[in-house]
Formats: sequence, C-alpha cells, structure tokens
Amino acid sequence: MNPIVFRGSRLFAEDVDLASLAEHVGTPFYCYSTAVLEGNFRTFASAVPTGTLVAYAVKANGNLAVLRTLAKLGAGADVVSGGELKKALAAGIPPNKIVFSGVGKSAAELSLGLREQIFQFNVESEAELELLAKLATSARLTAPVALRINPDVDAQTHAKISTGTAETKFGIPLERAPEAYAAAARLAGIEVAAIHVHLGSQLTSLEPFERAFRRIGDLIPVLRKAGHRIERADLGGGIGAGTAAPDIVAYGGLVERFAREHRVSLVLEPGRVIAANAGVLIARVLYVKEGWRKRFAVIDAGMNDLLRPALYGAHHEIVSLRQSDEGSMETYDVVGPVCETSDTFGTYRLPPLHAGDLVAILMVGAYGAAMASAYNERSPAAEVLVRDSQWSLVRPRMNDDERLRLDRIPTWLE
Ligand SMILES: Cc1ncc(COP(=O)(O)O)c(C=O)c1O
Repeated sequence: MNPIVFRGSRLFAEDVDLASLAEHVGTPFYCYSTAVLEGNFRTFASAVPTGTLVAYAVKANGNLAVLRTLAKLGAGADVVSGGELKKALAAGIPPNKIVFSGVGKSAAELSLGLREQIFQFNVESEAELELLAKLATSARLTAPVALRINPDVDAQTHAKISTGTAETKFGIPLERAPEAYAAAARLAGIEVAAIHVHLGSQLTSLEPFERAFRRIGDLIPVLRKAGHRIERADLGGGIGAGTAAPDIVAYGGLVERFAREHRVSLVLEPGRVIAANAGVLIARVLYVKEGWRKRFAVIDAGMNDLLRPALYGAHHEIVSLRQSDEGSMETYDVVGPVCETSDTFGTYRLPPLHAGDLVAILMVGAYGAAMASAYNERSPAAEVLVRDSQWSLVRPRMNDDERLRLDRIPTWLE
C-alpha cells in the first residue's frame, strides 16, 4: 500500500494529514514518508545479490534525515561532491560504504575522500587518475579505484539525463579502457580492482542495461588477460520510478547473472527508485487567473522549488487536497510564481480550484528539493519527514532576512 493516499477527502502521508501539516509549516513544503523510503530500500536490497553494496545516490535527495533513515537500514552512499561526502558521513554512513563518482572532482575533494578512506573512487578520466595518484602518494595512501567506462549505449531516456553514449562527458570510452587500465596499473598510489558503468537516469526498460552490461562483461576477460584484477563491478543506478518503471526483481535477476557470469561482487547506485515516490510537494493556490485561451492556477511553488518540469519537461501528477463534488473537473495550466514562461508544471484536469486551496505534486522525492534554487530570491520549499503519526521539519524554509544576510556589500560601496 502506498502510504501517501486519500482517506476520505483528506490526503495523508502515513498518519499525518497534509492539509493540517500545511497549517503548521506553511507552504510550499516537501513531505517525505519514512515508510516509503524504507520499503523502497528493502525491496531493492532484497532483489539484488546478497553482499551487494547498495550505495544510495545522494544526489537524488540528500536531506540528512533521508540519509540517516537509509543509513539505519545499512545503505551505503554514492556521492558526487565533497559536500555530499560530508553529508553522507554526517548521516552515519561509514566511509567503507561510500563511493565517489563525478566527472569533475577537485583536488580538495579527492583529498577528502583519501583522508576519509572511502571504499572506492569512480574515476572518469586519465587526467583524474593522475591527479588522484599524485595526491595519494604524497599522503602515503592508496586510492581504491574503479574506472568508469562509457559503453556508448543509448539509455533511451531524456537526452539531458542520458550519460552512457559516446558524445557525453562521462567516463572513459570503451575502446580506450585497456589503455586506461594499463596506465592505472603503472601509477603508484592507485589500486584498481573494479569497473564502473552508469547509463543515465529514469530508465524505463531493462534493455539498455542488458546491452551495456554485455559490453562491460565482454571487457572484463580482456582486462583480466592483460593482468588486471577485476573483483568488483559497480553497475551504477538509473532505474526509473513510476508506472513505466522496470520490474525490480527482473533487474535484480539481471545483475545477479552478471555477477555470477563474471565472478564479481557488485556495487549499485540507485537514487530515484528509492526516493521518488516517497515525496510530495504541497503548495497553495495563490490565484486562479483567466488568460486568453487558458485558465491558470498560480501556485506558491515554482521552478526554483521543483525544476524537473522546466528542465526536462518532466510530468508530475498534481492532485487537489480539496476533493470536492462541485461538479465536473476543469482544465488548468498549473504554474509557479517565477518570472519565466518555463515555470509551468503542465496542464491538468482538477476539481474547481480557488485561491487558498492546497495541491500536492506527486513523485517528487527524488531530484526535487535536491535541485532547488533561490532564483527570483525565493527560498526553496521547506522539507518535512513523517513517520507514522510523527512529523519533523527536517529543513526549514529560510526567511527573506536570512537570505539577505548571505550577500555582502564591499567597502567601496558602503
Ligand atoms: C554516477 C551516478 N550514479 C547513480 C545515479 C543515480 O541515478 P538514479 O537516481 O537514476 O538511480 C546517477 C544519476 O544520474 C549518477 O550520475
């Protein structure tokens, strides 16, 4: 059962009435369900081979409370910045369950990973490999490395979240992999025992995974024959969420066969599939406005709170918290207050809306708050975590005076 459901005419997250919660915390706010996060993590972890490191992709939702919830279930973390690394550690995820991905890790970030003795650096270029080797040797440490190989496989997802084709910036081209492994083997301070691949996000079919895993699988014996130790495969994340998502058990079978056939242990980096359906964004209708040909519902959450529709054309279902019997549904363009035409969530059939009504934008637990900004000098939405009938404000919304204090006037302008 999905714990974010209507009970009669009221929308609940677990045992918390979201309309009442809105009175306490103000709108807009994200609300996450502990039960959904835990359920998703357990479902994923039990579908993949025992012993797999499930390194939750912090970028999907890096709220400390979300990370702590997952850490308590034994989750590791896939981080892509020093900030995410520090957050994962602060949430209680041990360094030996942390992998560090990303195409542009700075020297300071690599050094932080070395100092914390993380489990694995997913290195994306020969240049990064050389810098890591230099930093590791000068710190008298050894960096455990997986080379991220770009398999040139189309993830058949949105172009802006596809990472595994030849023209993207991600990973080392498959053809250059033997050379890159040979270069790594010559470097002091580097210990390569793994291979990494990540195709992109929101994959709705297993077919691109199969193709990519076949290419990576064909490379493993070549690398071994050249004398490289490949004990581990980090197969990335990317499993879609929502109704078109691939079956988790089938995905588990696929990675299990890969592990068996190639005699490797696994690291996996799921993000969206753990967090997406755990979150809703609650917003209030500010105005209902008649345009030339359209009726707009202007709500108090905008693209600065939830960027995905503007950035990727992502569609999120929206429901009204007023389940009215005021006759038939009406058509609205639901838009935010930000001064951009792209600040629109789409066209929806909803019960008649009035200023002051609450709406919920669904499936926003991943890449929602994590991508929020303060564009138009609007503080991003607050974040709340619920557990049964308890709720906690896990990130308050900054007020305007707090925001104002972030800027400084230089002395010559005083
Ligand atoms: C390297 C890496 N691992 C894991 C993920 C998580 O992907 P998803 O949230 O689609 O599972 C991403 C996101 O694109 C990524 O870049």
